[in-house]
Formats: sequence, structure tokens, C-alpha cells
Amino acid sequence: MSFRLALTAAALAAAALSSHAQTAPLKVGLMLPATGTFAALGDAIEKGFRLYVAEQGVQYFKVDDESDPSKATDNVNKLIKRDQVDVIVGTVHSGVALAMARAAKESNTLLIVPNAGADAITGPLCAPNIVRSSFSNWQPGYATGLMAAQKGYKRAMTIYWNYAAGQESAKGFTEAFEKGGGKVIKDLGLPFPNVEFQALLTEIAAQKPDVVFAFFAGAGAAKFVKDYDAAGLRKTTPLIGSGFLTDGVLDAQGASAQGLLTALHYADGLNSPRDTAFRTKFAVTNKIQPDVYAVQGYDAAQILAAGLTAVKGDFSKRDALLSAMRKTSIDSPRGRYTLSAAGNPVQDFYIREVKGRENVMTGIAVKVLPDPARGCRM
Ligand code: PHB
Repeated sequence: MSFRLALTAAALAAAALSSHAQTAPLKVGLMLPATGTFAALGDAIEKGFRLYVAEQGVQYFKVDDESDPSKATDNVNKLIKRDQVDVIVGTVHSGVALAMARAAKESNTLLIVPNAGADAITGPLCAPNIVRSSFSNWQPGYATGLMAAQKGYKRAMTIYWNYAAGQESAKGFTEAFEKGGGKVIKDLGLPFPNVEFQALLTEIAAQKPDVVFAFFAGAGAAKFVKDYDAAGLRKTTPLIGSGFLTDGVLDAQGASAQGLLTALHYADGLNSPRDTAFRTKFAVTNKIQPDVYAVQGYDAAQILAAGLTAVKGDFSKRDALLSAMRKTSIDSPRGRYTLSAAGNPVQDFYIREVKGRENVMTGIAVKVLPDPARGCRM
């Protein structure tokens, strides 16, 4: 069922109710990074979202959030107060998304988060009008920790950008890794979006852990993997990570990423009919290959469409629309999943190995992993 069907129904329903012959289009606010280290991620999300949406009946409003938390409240209010959008789709960066979730909660604006994993969004900040088509930061961290323990590593170090996404994914990693008999001996952080890794790589070389867990993404991840290799560490100390480390950046990483193992809720080579159809359509439309961010954007549109379809496009039936969105079973390219009571995907995590330009699925880290939703009361 596509937007076009839902929105055609919306037009009919509204026309029936209204004395005016015209119907307002659905106003979708896209708040994504168009500049900075996460720019390509924002672009993939938008391309994925638009791929699912028939253009008629939708009016887009766009804000470049620059992955800058200090501008987030002003930026999201452009969409909520100035443009008065019906639904906001955003964003990539956890710090920005936290401000968006607060503003969405206060104004009761529908928010679909197509990436940012901040645990609080489906934890203490959870709300009926907020759902996520991506993950909580804890989830891929935890899945990677299971993978590392299963490989028999004992002493690990973590390295990440020191904000919610890095901290929370390292925490999830540590929880699973230590439960599995390992020990995290040291956490190394640097401020987002800093890419001066040298001092920290020297520290890793000195500590000689069995394995290093990293959280970086986008352009920063491309540089980190290249620097890790150039420092000679790839030969002595296996590098693993949640799959953001290598998703969408393999062209830039080239030889430095070959053989890296990561865990994520998407992978290349799934080869299901659903995934193949999505990938073909995405590649033909956009002339680039999809990645996890494209899938999350696509699924954000699928979740919204499920809500609209349930109310035959009548956006005024808010409660029914929200409830249908939260209850839908999403036929995702990643594999089918549902949303938890807190509104976060309950999904499988794949083990992926970098081979050439692909993160090839080589196994399952964990099936149907729910986020613990600590602190969510609804
Ligand atoms: C986040 O800030 O939550 C974040 C950013 C980029 C990713 C994953 C998570 O690839």
C-alpha cells in the first residue's frame, strides 16, 4: 500500500467533509544533515523516504540540521511553528534528535526518527506520537558485544565520539561482552565530529587489547578505518564495530576495511525478494547503491503509510493513525519487524564481513532483539 493510495483516500475523505473542493496536501518536514560528516547519511535517508512516497499529495519542508545540537531546537521549531508540518522525519545525530523529541512531545507533533539511536527517545522521552524506524544505540552495540564474546576475545577497548551515540553503543557493547566473559579495559572518546585519532591510536597500540570496538559513522568513519590501518593496527588488533563503521563508506575506505567484522540490522547479500526489489528500485532511481540509512528512510515512509492507510488518509483521526503506525508489521528490506511498546524496532542483527565494496551477511548476531526501553512510561 503506497502513500498515493492513502492520500487519494485522504483527498476523498477531506473533500467529503469540507465545503471547499480543495484538500491540503500532507506536510512532511524533513530535518536531516545536508552538510558535515553525516551529510551522505541524510541524503540516503531522504532518497529512501522519497522512494516509497508517490509525490502527489505530499508537500516537503526541509531543514539542514548540520548535526548541530546547539541549533536543534530552533531548527525543529521552523518545521513545527513556522511551517506547521503534519509530521517530522528526522534525524541522524542523537544529540539533535533528543531536542527534536522534546519539541515533538511538547507540541504533540508526529515524529518518525529514521536513524538517531539516542536511547532516551524510546526510553524516558517515549511518547505515543514518537516512533523510530532505525534502532536504539544500545541495540547494535549489544549485538556487536555478543559477536565479540562469541569470537572468544577477552580484553577489549572501545573508541567513539563522546556523545550519546558513542557512549550508549559502547555501553551496550560492554554489557553483552562482559556478560559473555570479556572485559572492557578502557574507553577512549573524542568530541564529535573530531577526526584527530592519532593520540588514541597510540594508546591502543600501547595497551594491546585483543579487540577494539569503534563507533564512528559517515566521513569520520571513513577516516578512522583508514587511520587505523595506516597506524599498522589492523594486523595486530582486530577492529570491530556496530555496522555504521563500514556502511555507506566502503568506497572511501577501500583496502583498509577489507575483512572487518561488524554487526547491524542490515547487510548486503540478504537476497530476499523484498530486499532485491528495494535495491533494484533504489539503484535505478538514484544511480547509487542503498545502505542502512536508505532502508531506514524507506521504512519511515512505510510506517507513516501504515497509519494513513488505517484512517483512509484522514489525518484528523490522530489516535487511530498513531495506534496503527505502532502496531504495523513492517515488510522491510532488512527483514520483517514490529515496533516495541516504546516505538522502537524489535529486529534481527546480522554479522557482516567487508568483502570488496560490500558488507556481506555472514551470520546472525542475535534474532529479534528488543531494546530494554529503560525509563519509558506511557
Ligand atoms: C547517532 O547520533 O545516533 C548516530 C549517528 C550516525 C550513525 C548512527 C547513530 O550512523
